[in-house]
Amino acid sequence: MNFANNGLIAANSASALGIIFVKTNQQMDNKKKIALVTGGSRGLGKDMALRLAQKGLDVIVTYRTKDQEAKDVVAQIEQGGGKATALSLDTGVVSSFDGFTGQLTQVLRDHFNTEKIDFLVNNAGHGGYLPVTEVTESFFDDLMNVHFKGVYFLTQKLLPLMNDGGGIVNISSGLTRVSMPGSSVYASLKTAVETFTRYLAKELGTRGIRANTVAPGAIMTDFGNARLRSSEEMQKQISSVTALGRPGVAEDIGGVVAFLCTEDARWVNAQRIEASGGMMV
Ligand SMILES: NC(=O)c1ccc[n+]([C@@H]2O[C@H](COP(=O)([O-])OP(=O)(O)OC[C@H]3O[C@@H](n4cnc5c(N)ncnc54)[C@H](OP(=O)(O)O)[C@@H]3O)[C@@H](O)[C@H]2O)c1
Repeated sequence: MNFANNGLIAANSASALGIIFVKTNQQMDNKKKIALVTGGSRGLGKDMALRLAQKGLDVIVTYRTKDQEAKDVVAQIEQGGGKATALSLDTGVVSSFDGFTGQLTQVLRDHFNTEKIDFLVNNAGHGGYLPVTEVTESFFDDLMNVHFKGVYFLTQKLLPLMNDGGGIVNISSGLTRVSMPGSSVYASLKTAVETFTRYLAKELGTRGIRANTVAPGAIMTDFGNARLRSSEEMQKQISSVTALGRPGVAEDIGGVVAFLCTEDARWVNAQRIEASGGMMV
């Protein structure tokens, strides 16, 4: 059997000790790994970018509107001794992905002296809440384009630009497990992302590419017009149904994603990892 494609490229046994030492692609390759985080200008994506850099990865963040915030994230990573860059991308416009791929290729060559990334984190997204009776086609399409269609086709487009042995982390939501009024479209699309993730894991295993979902609970970011961060009442309600007794903050999530982009997570594949402090358990 050839294990090379599963990231396991050499093994030898210290027979006297009865220990198997395994050398992995990452250990044999001194080059820094590169992670691309969509929506890395603020909120969860920003924390993911910073935590990935802390773990020694180079980082490319994308932003849609907040270019200064994205530049600040890059500066913070560079101040810490890492390498980073920011690119503009609207993940809801599939027709722009060819242009984005071209820009990414250029940046990888010019700034990182390489041709491929190792990890893709599909994080970008905005909120939208309406009861089923009030959902319109345009409301549906707006969320659909960003939260599922964009995730699907951006991943497809970037797969040729990914090294074997890397990984994909898709950001879902606690709302695929528990239901809250007004989130039928958003939560259904996140459920689609979770299913897509399992298919990615299944189809990309031969390349040693892992695919996992991280599902945050309710987190106090700008998301959904900062409705949780700006409402004490909502915060109390979330605290009351969360085992750890508080709503989440961005710093609760980035480290989970960063872990999935390390060798320590090399056997974690096709999983949905919820980070919600034990919401509605
Ligand atoms: N906050 C929560 O309670 C929560 C819970 C579960 C899951 N999530 C998920 O976590 C992810 C990040 O949410 P967040 O809380 O960090 O939100 P946030 O603070 O509002 O940040 C959203 C990020 O996504 C980018 N973005 C939004 N729409 C985009 C688009 N169409 N194309 C490209 N980039 C876009 C924004 O870019 P700009 O800064 O340039 O505008 C920003 O970087 C989302 O997928 C969300 O569904 C959030």
